[in-house]
Amino acid sequence: MSLPATRFRPLSLTLGVMMTFLLGCEPGGPSYAVADIPFPDGWIYAPDDAPVLAEHGMVVSTDEYASRVGIGILQAGGNAVDAAVAVSFALAVVDPEAGNIGGGGFMVLRLADGTTASLDYRERAPLAATRDMFLDENGELREGYTEGHLAAGVPGTVAGMWAAHQRFGTLPWAEVVEPAVELAGGFEVREREARQFSMAEDNLRVFPSTAAAFLPDGKPPAVGDVFRQPELVATLGRIAEQGRDGFYRGVTADLIVAEMEGGGGLITHRDLAEMEAAWRDPIRITYRGHTIVSMPPTSSGGATLAAMAKILEGYDLGSLEWHGVEHVHLLAEAWKRAYADRNTYLADPDFVEMPLERMISDEYGAERRATISLERATPSEEVGPGLGPADDGETTHFSVVDAQGNAVSVTTTINSFFGCKVTVTGAGFVLNNEMDDFSARPGYPNMFGLVQGEANAIQPGKRMLSAMTPTIVVDSVGELLLVLGSPGGATIITNVFQEISNVVDFGMGIRQALNAPRLHHQHLPDVLQYEKASLSPEVIAALEAMGQPVEERYSPGDVYPHIGDVQAIQRLPDGTLAGASDLRRGGVAVGY
Ligand code: DON
Repeated sequence: MSLPATRFRPLSLTLGVMMTFLLGCEPGGPSYAVADIPFPDGWIYAPDDAPVLAEHGMVVSTDEYASRVGIGILQAGGNAVDAAVAVSFALAVVDPEAGNIGGGGFMVLRLADGTTASLDYRERAPLAATRDMFLDENGELREGYTEGHLAAGVPGTVAGMWAAHQRFGTLPWAEVVEPAVELAGGFEVREREARQFSMAEDNLRVFPSTAAAFLPDGKPPAVGDVFRQPELVATLGRIAEQGRDGFYRGVTADLIVAEMEGGGGLITHRDLAEMEAAWRDPIRITYRGHTIVSMPPTSSGGATLAAMAKILEGYDLGSLEWHGVEHVHLLAEAWKRAYADRNTYLADPDFVEMPLERMISDEYGAERRATISLERATPSEEVGPGLGPADDGETTHFSVVDAQGNAVSVTTTINSFFGCKVTVTGAGFVLNNEMDDFSARPGYPNMFGLVQGEANAIQPGKRMLSAMTPTIVVDSVGELLLVLGSPGGATIITNVFQEISNVVDFGMGIRQALNAPRLHHQHLPDVLQYEKASLSPEVIAALEAMGQPVEERYSPGDVYPHIGDVQAIQRLPDGTLAGASDLRRGGVAVGY
């Protein structure tokens, strides 16, 4: 195989576009792209499904109720931030496996005038947390440390929504929280929600407060049932009335602290009162003339995405056979290198110095690229971090664009499916188990298999490193192109990269890009993972012959392919918005 490591050649984009067909939803109507790229035999999604097209605004989330709440806010005159706050609270009601007020997240925004901002409302370690709190007397991780009260970080979501709304919101706060209060009063369960409750049934039985909240009559809510959450109505009502203080002070705070005291957790009134979201400078890089705007630490997402993009920008990806051996080899090699640095250096910027500028630079991308062989895979143990000595689920994404062209990209999480499985008694919401995103035992894998270093060790008040990658892409003439993100633990960053590359390098439209199969490599373990039926046996054999271990990513009981759940909006050249919600979990794009 010979692959010239070229610099960006505009020709490759031209070729990509030449191979792309434009399909219209009606004669003379807006067109969306479908690249002439076949999906593998046996792959379950089609390349030419249509996105949802709309002229004014679009909301894409994993749940139809939540998407409709967002559109309702836009149509009532709210902007994209108002809609994002409303969607976030709605997801806490209809998607309690991941949507939350007991967790945290990240928001990336780009206003119609080009201003960008990013907001870090990641959970923090309680002030009483210690570096070795999850280790036993032999220095090994204790069993079950990801479940129960100790696993919970101090929730950041309400502080984040409050900060976003204070700075950019236009509608009254109570008005954007109100739709969630109404949903908590009772919503008719549909197939997607019923599936999540029934999949979680065993988890929901672990703690009685959780069983009481989510298993009415002792069983998971089923399709057609009206699911009512009266305690959550009261909690959201206090938030609607009192803003952030409705959560971090007063009755809700008292209930959280009582739950902690009863269950051996660490979160105190002081932890809650001191919780603030932080505005941070977004990561910004160019990728083949486009600008990628993404989340800086405390999420590793933007920096790792940028590092892999800088390595891969030196190859003419669009000229390669999509998911052919050369393409997959280059992805895996770039991803290994980017994750090796991520796992070593990145952490909460309020606690740790990190070589961020260098990690996302053209020069460092070229240095890393120079270590990639085109003939053989580099074993992960030979990759290592490259920046010199270090100083050292469950998640959901949604995307919003409003009629003015403001764009908001939000990923939020409680980490595992239903977090630490503890519902705050009397308050009706589940707490996160985000403490596992720290290096609870540096050098050993966490639940996502990420082997992280000392920089991300537990410290009181510190935020745990995340992989969440809410991202916005602007095209070469400064127009909004993509708003996207995904859950998926360690796979989030590679998911987002693949969608951007599918559109920018291969000319796919957003619907086709999301329907395409996904791959993943995170440095350790040294294995390239693929969704079932998504790589041909010939490509797998060729990669293995080059020394790259390859495996199907599978969890018992999986019906659908399950790397990620991307929620994305593409702005088409004529300004039409194309929304696409991942078919992997059944979300919905709604536009108007
Ligand atoms: O912040 C992170 O990177 C993880 N807590 C995300 C967990 C996740 O995506 C699980 N969902 N599928």
